[in-house]
Amino acid sequence: MASSTLVSRRVAAIGKSAIHEMTRLSQEVEDVAFLSWAKPTSDTPEHIKEGAIRAIADGLVGGYSPTSGMPALRQEIAEKLKRDNRIDARSSQIIVTVGAIEGLAAAIMAVVDPGDEVILPSPTYSTHIRQVVMASGKPVLVPCIEEEDFRLDIDAIAEAVTPRTKAILFCSPSNPTGTVFGEDQLRRLAAVACDNNLVVITDEAYEYFVFDDHQHVSIAALPGMEERTISCFTFTKTYAMTGWRIGYLHAGEEWVEQITKAHIPFAICAPTVSQYAALAALRGSQNCVAEFRAHYLAARNLMCERLDAMPEIFAYQKPGGSYLMFPHILVEGGQNSFSFCRRLLREARVSTTPGVAFGPTGEAHLRMSFCVPEQTVNTAFDRLQAYFGV
Ligand SMILES: Cc1ncc(COP(=O)(O)O)c(C=O)c1O
Repeated sequence: MASSTLVSRRVAAIGKSAIHEMTRLSQEVEDVAFLSWAKPTSDTPEHIKEGAIRAIADGLVGGYSPTSGMPALRQEIAEKLKRDNRIDARSSQIIVTVGAIEGLAAAIMAVVDPGDEVILPSPTYSTHIRQVVMASGKPVLVPCIEEEDFRLDIDAIAEAVTPRTKAILFCSPSNPTGTVFGEDQLRRLAAVACDNNLVVITDEAYEYFVFDDHQHVSIAALPGMEERTISCFTFTKTYAMTGWRIGYLHAGEEWVEQITKAHIPFAICAPTVSQYAALAALRGSQNCVAEFRAHYLAARNLMCERLDAMPEIFAYQKPGGSYLMFPHILVEGGQNSFSFCRRLLREARVSTTPGVAFGPTGEAHLRMSFCVPEQTVNTAFDRLQAYFGV
């Protein structure tokens, strides 16, 4: 009996997810070229599945794991963070979470009091905005500089700080723009955080998918940042494991103690079977990650080529990472990205995501995913070219 008068204001304030709405609408149309989900279309690699199957056969997965995750997995994660992220991690600083999303939710609950402000460079992943609202915090969206590859506007971020600001939350590589925030930008962002005593919460879901001369840098590895950063990671993207719901976070031990108090009522622990799969992922060959990266790079290049043939319809910044891009719609009707997306779906049979889902500065854009077979990119763009007559 969830009548509108009984629903909490916190949840009522959250709009319908445009991403899920587009998925629903896409199911009503036959033979859609689907570019709207940030979900790898590849299956989880065999050696990872086998790790889970062995653990099931050995009767290891029927119970809860320790709340923070299996000790062997946390140890492997600490090694990975040292090797790949230059974070001087100990396993006591790690919580294994139900995907990056639950880690972020628990971190935000541990940091944000009602009315606290959280600065988010915008456009950004809509779930982050919703998580701040769920914690009764106030998202403060600071536009990135689109003409310069959607880089951070550090001066604007510094100006947005008020006495209520508690944290800065960002993802790099970015969903939806694919921007990789370089070390110079992160150093300047770190200075803003230190000067104003702010927590930094990161979402590094796409850390392994960076292209050209871009490099993924974890802000926690920069001087003075380890103690004030909560870094969230996931197996979801790296190993095509979206359905296993397994990720982790790293933070200083005092933060870990507090975040664990939020993690338990959300999850108790991450799925035990998925922790065995994650262990197999970290201990096994990393060739699958290189293969995924090579595929996304080829698909990105193809999508850019196809967009280059439509300069009067879309303007775009070439993404340096992730498997997403965020073209600006130049034609009439593009100002309302949701109705534009619905039109493309019904009339061209191409499913994209409306930019407005990623905050107001995302309006007049579309998000397109290139974690799909190249054939899907070609089908989508053949249809778009035919639809726009170019
Ligand atoms: C930036 C970002 N973070 C997190 C997630 C989800 O991560 P997980 O499946 O680990 O919860 C997504 C999924 O699209 C994402 O784009």
